[in-house]
Amino acid sequence: MQGEVHIFEQPAQLHHAAAERLLDLGREAIKQRGAFHLVLSGGSTPAGLYQLIGEQHRQDLDWSRVHIYFGDERCVPADHEMSNYRMARELMLSRLPIPSVQVHAISGDLPPALAVGEYRDLLEHQPPRDDGPLPRFDLILLGMGDDGHIASLFPGSELLYRRKVLVDEVHLDHLDARQPGSRRITLTLPVLNHARHLMLLVSGASKAAMLERITREEGEDKAPHAPLPIQMLQPLGGMEWYLDRDAAAGLNSPHERDPLSH
Ligand code: 6PG
Repeated sequence: MQGEVHIFEQPAQLHHAAAERLLDLGREAIKQRGAFHLVLSGGSTPAGLYQLIGEQHRQDLDWSRVHIYFGDERCVPADHEMSNYRMARELMLSRLPIPSVQVHAISGDLPPALAVGEYRDLLEHQPPRDDGPLPRFDLILLGMGDDGHIASLFPGSELLYRRKVLVDEVHLDHLDARQPGSRRITLTLPVLNHARHLMLLVSGASKAAMLERITREEGEDKAPHAPLPIQMLQPLGGMEWYLDRDAAAGLNSPHERDPLSH
């Protein structure tokens, strides 16, 4: 797998290591550029990380310099149980002294087209550009679906090939349009791939088959299908995987299985 692979016996160890790495990258960004532009992932995997940071790391970073964004959001109100913002707020953001104006939630309660326009406007002027039209985030946290999706970029989506779009809406066609969560707002691949650092947090046995597949297909000349979203991550900066043992069970080569076991 491209990038550095860290494998942990238990999710709790994964969360501790990911928290330490996130804080290191935050201190580095603040020291070098005066701010830390951090994109949070949704889903359940990062919950333990957010809780750990919120409970134990209030003193370990100058949170007044941190700007929070979201890789994607479900089109639901901010207090809905499916809201990625709600999870981050309850577990972490409500416990850290980050100025509220620096927490940039995606407006899940707005009509999707308006929420997209609002986030596109935001990304027009922050985070700072340093080499062209794309915003460069210091760190983007991502989870991975068992189908290889990242953020709300799903296999087969034409959004995967749109190069000039930074944010867009997604309709999960396998869900009824009236079902909460069937409509989402997501950052796109050009933005994800322009990050200084990407951290993939993947835990649980349900992800093992997909991790095995992407590892196996890396060794093959040509995959027999269009690349999956997870396989389209080619970040300019560093990419690091934080896996637990269950998710890594299918990584059969010694290099992949125990490259940096903890
Ligand atoms: C979301 C995430 C999504 C998530 C994966 C993994 O809004 O759900 O952006 O991409 O990271 O689906 O989800 P779990 O962590 O719940 O397995």
